[in-house]
Amino acid sequence: MAKASRNFVCQSCGAAYPRWSGRCEACGEWNTIVEEAGATGGIGAGPAKAGGRSKGRRIELVEMSGETADPPRHITGMAEFDRVTGGGLVPGSAVLIGGDPGIGKSTLLLQAMAALAARPGEASGGAVVYISGEEAIAQVRMRARRLGLGEAPVQLGAETNLKDILGTLESGTPPRAVVIDSIQTMWTEALDSAPGTVTQVRASAQELVRFAKRHGTAVILVGHVTKEGQIAGPRVVEHMVDAVIYFEGERGHQFRILRAVKNRFGPANEIGVFEMGEKGLAEVPNPSALFLGERDGETSGSAVFAGIEGTRPVLVEIQALVAKSALGTPRRAVVGWDGGRLSMVLAVLEARCGLTLAGQDVYLNVAGGLRINEPAADLAVAAALISSVTGQPLPSDCVIFGEISLSGAVRPVSQMEARLKEAEKLGFSKAILPAMAARSRPSGGLAFTEISDLQGLIAHLATRS
Ligand code: TYD
Ligand code: MG
Repeated sequence: MAKASRNFVCQSCGAAYPRWSGRCEACGEWNTIVEEAGATGGIGAGPAKAGGRSKGRRIELVEMSGETADPPRHITGMAEFDRVTGGGLVPGSAVLIGGDPGIGKSTLLLQAMAALAARPGEASGGAVVYISGEEAIAQVRMRARRLGLGEAPVQLGAETNLKDILGTLESGTPPRAVVIDSIQTMWTEALDSAPGTVTQVRASAQELVRFAKRHGTAVILVGHVTKEGQIAGPRVVEHMVDAVIYFEGERGHQFRILRAVKNRFGPANEIGVFEMGEKGLAEVPNPSALFLGERDGETSGSAVFAGIEGTRPVLVEIQALVAKSALGTPRRAVVGWDGGRLSMVLAVLEARCGLTLAGQDVYLNVAGGLRINEPAADLAVAAALISSVTGQPLPSDCVIFGEISLSGAVRPVSQMEARLKEAEKLGFSKAILPAMAARSRPSGGLAFTEISDLQGLIAHLATRS
């Protein structure tokens, strides 16, 4: 028992070990195991101590089906934020908002909370509270003023001691919504380990989730994502909360994408698009127009992909550059798409079509800073690559989508109708798409070119001159 209070905990996933090792067997990460004083046992052991109870309380899980009516929501009026949360914040739910430091999480939440607090007709409910563990009150106020939100009825607090925070929130009317910025700065006296360690993060998050359930308050936890295990990754918190939302964007781009990766109360993968400017984050109601806005006419190596993000069709330009390599091992650089998927498309082009790119550097970029996960983008990527190799541009009024199989066949994808409608709305007149049965052929005003395999795509692109 003497040694039980010392433990080695993976700062990425929270697995506990009796002794140090270089690699965490649970999540496979290297150099994430750190000795933590006061950490006892495995997952779930921390909070029992924190609450002074002998057993952790069971978190109530809400059944999605059944008789219950749709839960009432706190609508912020910030349409892109409400869309990603699945139609507003659910009372009693806990939401994790993760993202790189400096991406704009604090700015987003300050704006969303100000909008929520200022909603007419909701004033009778509890307060809207923003607790900053990173900035002083003066700093938060200054930022709010710069954003033009100086008058918003948001209650501010600057504190990192969780017990004091919960004690304050529990006295009086329970708040409607509480933001904790960030979960990594919170600490509870019951544990010896330092703030930011996985034990503290887990215990704090669990206390906050419990508070949310007990008082019907919507709790939003901000979590910094770091590559190294220095600060506990929010992964340990992901299991505890009702929704996990990531705020992403490429450095140097002003576009920010809010993406629901898990949501018990709404569709996952839903995205909201924002633009970071002088006055904070502005909503972008029509992302396609924005992502295509910077296109300059017909250039080789460019293809417009008609994609689906969440429930919404989004058109985006895919750019490829194939150039002779000066290196022994040619470069394969990808921004906004999966590198493994690119390798697959390259391999299929080589094996099935004889298009060899060995000795060539290949660069692939999704314009605007969007990250695409859909296999439906395969055909657009292949078209951009072929176009870059041949120097032959695709028509600028053409969209393209389709999944490529290892045999080189082009497979139909989901929601073709929605993709084509969006393209038509934005003034496109042609579509290159997978071959399909007549009965499943979507209607619409676009001219279709149906492609059944990659050779067909190459032949089609070659006939254009
Ligand atoms: P912040 O919300 O502090 O990021 P996070 O909480 O995710 O760490 O955002 C900081 C960045 O946003 C900073 O680099 C400056 C930029 N920014 C603007 O460009 N315009 C603005 O109006 C604000 C408030 C911030
Ligand atoms: Mg911040």
